[in-house]
Amino acid sequence: MREAIRALGAVFFAFVLAFPAAGAQKERPAAKPPGTAIASAHQLATDAGLQVVREGGNAFDAAVAVSAVLSVVEPVSSGLGGGGFFLLHDARRGRDVFVDAREVAPSSVTPQSYLDEKGELDRDRATNGPWSAGIPGLPAALVHIAGRYGRLPLSKSLAPAIRIAREGFPVYARLADGYRSRAKVMERYPGTREVFLADGDAPEVGELLMQPDLARTLEALARNGFDGFYRGEVAARLLAGVEAEGVRWTAQDLAGYRVREREPLRFEYDGWNVVTAPPPSSGGIALAQMLQMLEPWDLAKLPEPQRVHLTVEAMRRAYRDRTFYLGDPDFVRVPSRLLASAAYAAGQRSTIHPDRATPSALLSGAPTPLEDEETTHFSIIDAEGNRVAATQTVNLTYGSGFIPRGTGVLLNNEMDDFALRPGTPNAFGVMGYEANAPRPGKRMLSSMTPTFLVSDSRVAVLGTPGGSRIITMVLLGILGYADGLAPQQVAALPRYHHQWLPDVVQTEAGALAEPTIAALRAMGHTVATPPPAADGRSSSYVWGNLQTVMWNREGNVLEGGSDPRNPVGSAKVLPAAPRAR
Ligand code: DON
Repeated sequence: MREAIRALGAVFFAFVLAFPAAGAQKERPAAKPPGTAIASAHQLATDAGLQVVREGGNAFDAAVAVSAVLSVVEPVSSGLGGGGFFLLHDARRGRDVFVDAREVAPSSVTPQSYLDEKGELDRDRATNGPWSAGIPGLPAALVHIAGRYGRLPLSKSLAPAIRIAREGFPVYARLADGYRSRAKVMERYPGTREVFLADGDAPEVGELLMQPDLARTLEALARNGFDGFYRGEVAARLLAGVEAEGVRWTAQDLAGYRVREREPLRFEYDGWNVVTAPPPSSGGIALAQMLQMLEPWDLAKLPEPQRVHLTVEAMRRAYRDRTFYLGDPDFVRVPSRLLASAAYAAGQRSTIHPDRATPSALLSGAPTPLEDEETTHFSIIDAEGNRVAATQTVNLTYGSGFIPRGTGVLLNNEMDDFALRPGTPNAFGVMGYEANAPRPGKRMLSSMTPTFLVSDSRVAVLGTPGGSRIITMVLLGILGYADGLAPQQVAALPRYHHQWLPDVVQTEAGALAEPTIAALRAMGHTVATPPPAADGRSSSYVWGNLQTVMWNREGNVLEGGSDPRNPVGSAKVLPAAPRAR
């Protein structure tokens, strides 16, 4: 399978361009990239981003266009009714910034809101319908990024999304399959039926999905900015829609939503500066812990069982801390600096046995299930050296399944990312306590980890969906780049994961060789190996949808990598127009 995934990468994405600029200098690293590279999970989104660059936009305008088109063509993964994190590098100001557009809990939430009469977690409320939805953040992010960092008006950068929402796009397998898996919930709601059953039956591969209400909502956003979504007619429909299902959002819940600009989390690994997601993402701190724990070992030179063992032990320790310490920094004191420090990692490292698994029970807890995944990531580098790493989501497949009538906006089910009942695992099998307890206006802890890797010679942008497995996929991607792999190879890398609890090494089908699995078991690891599916790439047995771009300043080459597990993804490079260079 490992070979199969690599081969798929080569076959599906052989068209990905990599080109040296004319007259590229070998000796001195180039100061500016030779064009714009975009990798996203849908080719219509990649093309929309390149289109706005041709119209004079920069990476940030492209990000708005890509994000909005993904909202239209991947409702299964992300959308205006959800949220996301946008890591930006503004080349002119020489500044990195993390735009946090995570959803927040509505003002009506209480510690009891998601408990049944017996005090157990009410999983229907946690993951289905308007109870499960946080106040959306994505529309505010688009307005913020366009206004503060872009060059084009929203009317231009949102134009492709508006057109595709109105004219439709062909349904692909992941949309149709996802719909079938969520149909029971989605069809509870008239607003959702009006969109997905407009022609009388469920979306089928190849037919056009048109979303005229969503086109109008996007137009309101383009025309009126923040107020186009969070105040006025769209807001009124959102409020009426949730109220019709017995849930209370106030006008102030919407009008009071704000994105936060945060300082990204930074640390060094093996000659790379890693710039990544701070809380309320758990990703950056976990990456800092894992990579700094692993730094003294030359992983590439170790035999596979040893390499996987050490990596798994680092994963286990980082996910344990996630459970207890991480949450919204606007509400709880997160000891970020300590947890992400080299000294703390050294302490953690000293508890790793060189060839024995540490049972997670020594660090405590109970086994939990994992569900499969949606969410989306895109990566951009433009000819000015600006960069965007963005991961956006409605959480589980088709989010809450609920569209308030007349808006076209499918709401997220992000409330499940809170520790709704202390110590009870969520859909990804991760749990939490006070630090991630739900409170009005609080952001739920996330695993989304948009990341930049910067060395003297190379700059890479990467990220992926995958719930709690996002962080370990980004970890493996970084290790891949550190080993000298190209972007397409990084996107195709086979994956394994450990999250402290359940105390199991999860693997993609065929990701680890049989002798490695046997050796890991002999060290005391429980390794779950799913049987290969008939088509070899069933979504239960492969994870993630990693999208990455890299600028190699030696030789001035831009390259993209798009996850071969997703056949509609696309990484492309557009040469800089002569006037822009
Ligand atoms: O923010 C998070 O960590 C999750 N809501 C992301 C969800 C996701 O990646 C869905 N796919 N597994």
